[in-house]
Amino acid sequence: MSELLAYIESNGDRFVEELKAFLRIPSISADSGYNAETRRAAEYVADEARRIGLEHVQIIDTPGHPVVYADWLHAEGSPTVLIYGHYDVQPPDPLDLWTSPPFEPTVRGDSIYARGSIDDKGQVHMHLKSIEAWMKTAGRLPVNVKIIIEGEEEVGSPNLPPFLAAHRDLLACDAVMISDTTMYDYEMPSVTYGLRGLAYFELHVVGPDRDLHSGMFGGAVANPINALCDLIAKMKDENGRVQLPGFYDDVVDVSPEERAELARLPYDVEDFKKLLTIPETVGEAGYTDLERLWARPTLDVCGIWGGYQGEGAKTVLPSKAGAKVSMRLVAHQDYRTVGDQLRAFVAANMPPGCTVDVVELHGGPPALTPTDSVPVRAALAALEQAFGIKPFLIRSGGSIPIVADFDAQLGAPVVLMGFGLPDQNAHSPDEKMNLPNYHRGIKSAALFLEQMSRAGQ
Ligand code: BES
Ligand code: MN
Ligand code: MN
Repeated sequence: MSELLAYIESNGDRFVEELKAFLRIPSISADSGYNAETRRAAEYVADEARRIGLEHVQIIDTPGHPVVYADWLHAEGSPTVLIYGHYDVQPPDPLDLWTSPPFEPTVRGDSIYARGSIDDKGQVHMHLKSIEAWMKTAGRLPVNVKIIIEGEEEVGSPNLPPFLAAHRDLLACDAVMISDTTMYDYEMPSVTYGLRGLAYFELHVVGPDRDLHSGMFGGAVANPINALCDLIAKMKDENGRVQLPGFYDDVVDVSPEERAELARLPYDVEDFKKLLTIPETVGEAGYTDLERLWARPTLDVCGIWGGYQGEGAKTVLPSKAGAKVSMRLVAHQDYRTVGDQLRAFVAANMPPGCTVDVVELHGGPPALTPTDSVPVRAALAALEQAFGIKPFLIRSGGSIPIVADFDAQLGAPVVLMGFGLPDQNAHSPDEKMNLPNYHRGIKSAALFLEQMSRAGQ
């Protein structure tokens, strides 16, 4: 075995201990009460970058949470790889459903449990440790490397597009490597070539100017919860088709070739039902579950509120109701156009007697990356070496809003080489990362750099 891989194996336990320090920082980007902690996670990444031998380490402020930049640019004549990831995490609640506290990383069995363990601190750490392994064994990297680790991915990366535009020269590169996605399954290393976009809104419905006695007024006064439910019910038909006029106009249908490729992946609906404890899968008629998850757009209500929530019966006709409505988008839907379609739909379909306000929370474009680019081929080769298994090409239903911007602003192909798994509870209680895959991820990241150096010749 090469000295590089031997170094990664013999230092594996120490890597996990170091990762724990990163996972202990509650860098919850959505909650401004944690701004100081979120900054501390940026400082952790910057310190670590310095420690492993990266240069020009900077914590660059934005109007939101800072971006960490660092580089090593001494591989003259070799390509430059930009590694992107995020140090922020989702809020950990509900806290009582965690077996061990979210910011007290704990190893149980084959996994390390903590908020951010897989999304995305653990995966960022794989790249940092792969760089350390190169520097400690070869004294150099095989290609030029720049890293940019942000702190606002979990809130939609609002400040990153202007950051990219303002720092095009600093970030100029030949390929963008991102480890923030999943593998198809255990023992199935994967490169992801498609992500869905996102258009996220809040609906605020107001009826009477105060809560009313539902007996004295119910029947003649519009109830905002009923009105909101009527409106939401009209948003999809019985075949699971979204009813916003024009919603599917820009959707690229899955090609027969791709359908055949996806159908070759081993998908067992019984396993899927068991994983989630659901009686059956549902969705848009005419599409398989994988197509529904990866290649078709959705409309989901992610939260709804209004009226009396306490114990027992309170006869009240509420003044207000609201809902969070999220749409996952696919190529070539534009979240701004979809927003216009939602506003038009609401205006045309809102039952009488209430007012409704549509508030945009955030939007991000879908991404489809070519599967034959230099970095995708390098990642496939690296995964095969690290896992000893031929990797799979998959899509994903999740979103990383900045992927499309990398392509557009930097003109460099993106490769998504992720190590998460569907059962690892990203965004949920008991988030975990599989430790064998963490170690194989570090090897894959190290071998990817070597593969890129060969590709450059
Ligand atoms: N890492 C995820 C995205 C992801 C998860 C991609 C699984 C592929 C497979 C990322 O951190 C995330 O959670 N993104 C958000 C979007 C964001 C705008 C809040 C998402 O997909 O909900
Ligand atoms: Mn992530
Ligand atoms: Mn996430």
